[in-house]
Amino acid sequence: MTDPTNERKIEHIRAIEHDPATDRDGRWFDRILLTHRALPEVALDQIDPSTEFLGKRLSFPLLISSMTGGDHELVRTINTNLAIAAERCGVAMAVGSQRVMFTHPSAEASFALREHAPTTVLIGNVGGVQLNYGFDLDKCQRAVDVLAADALYFHLNPLQEAVQPEGDTDFRGVAEKMGAISRHLSVPVMLKEVGAGLSAADIALGLAQGISHFDVAGSGGTSWSRIEHHRRHDGDEIGLRFQDWGLPTPLALQQAEPFLDRATLIASGGLRDGIDMAKSVILGASLCGMAAPLLQPAMESAEAVVTVIERLRREFITAMFLLGTPDMAALFRNRALIVHER
Ligand SMILES: Cc1cc2nc3c(=O)[nH]c(=O)nc-3n(C[C@H](O)[C@H](O)[C@H](O)COP(=O)(O)O)c2cc1C
Repeated sequence: MTDPTNERKIEHIRAIEHDPATDRDGRWFDRILLTHRALPEVALDQIDPSTEFLGKRLSFPLLISSMTGGDHELVRTINTNLAIAAERCGVAMAVGSQRVMFTHPSAEASFALREHAPTTVLIGNVGGVQLNYGFDLDKCQRAVDVLAADALYFHLNPLQEAVQPEGDTDFRGVAEKMGAISRHLSVPVMLKEVGAGLSAADIALGLAQGISHFDVAGSGGTSWSRIEHHRRHDGDEIGLRFQDWGLPTPLALQQAEPFLDRATLIASGGLRDGIDMAKSVILGASLCGMAAPLLQPAMESAEAVVTVIERLRREFITAMFLLGTPDMAALFRNRALIVHER
């Protein structure tokens, strides 16, 4: 019997392949203009972009954002290639929703990635709303254990759920349930959106529950509302209507700024190059996530993923050089580097 949770992942990938406009190309980061140092007073080959996240050293602050997993040759290939590349490049990687493991046990293999990435940061992924639909601490711990994960993402996707006919839309009490899980899970819990942004109110709610890591996953990149539109065949256009709904990533980071003394932020949603990454770190992000730009290379080979990561690393280092910032400490939250915001 085909399992809808398993098939859905393939439908999402096909929708992205066939419709380039699922990447909304918002270019919100272009509204932020950085300074330029004609006298950077640093040597390009001395720039140190490395950083620490969850107690592990990363070569630069890149996260391969959550994408996939399931009982399918294609998703096994994608995850294996991403994990090999993450380890080789010393960057973090998150997996896609692990819910499918519980409806389709043979999907577990696609998440057992530690053998390919023995040392780097790996992050599990479960839908926060699933805590209202039968998901419990045991399942969350199982999701962590299969991956030997360093942390567990709860993804929050009310827009995606609202525009699909079979969506799980009862979000009552989810914050409290995530808080309860976070107190018993073996690794830290982190909250993420999936492309519509976490607001200041969301972060305040998470912090009140003792959660301290937040991936804003704002709008401007992959639009789940538009992807879900492609899965509808009933003429309903609500997914198109809401395709650009949400907080653009730079704005979400700015909204989160007041919480930075207690919160660790991850930027994702529409980041497309090393310059967007530098701007995100200036706005308070400790890690910068990208999903869609790594999907096609991951279908090809680990080497193709490494090539993209190396390009991003070079761009990030070049931006640091031109800003005269020798290391992450000089870049992080250094708002003086922003000269203009449109
Ligand atoms: C193919 C694909 C599958 C995704 N699946 C998940 C998922 O299962 N869970 C999740 O939390 N986010 C998922 N996302 C969302 C990303 O993790 C990220 O938050 C969002 O796409 C914004 O990043 P981008 O603009 O760089 O694609 C997926 C994104 C893509 C492109």
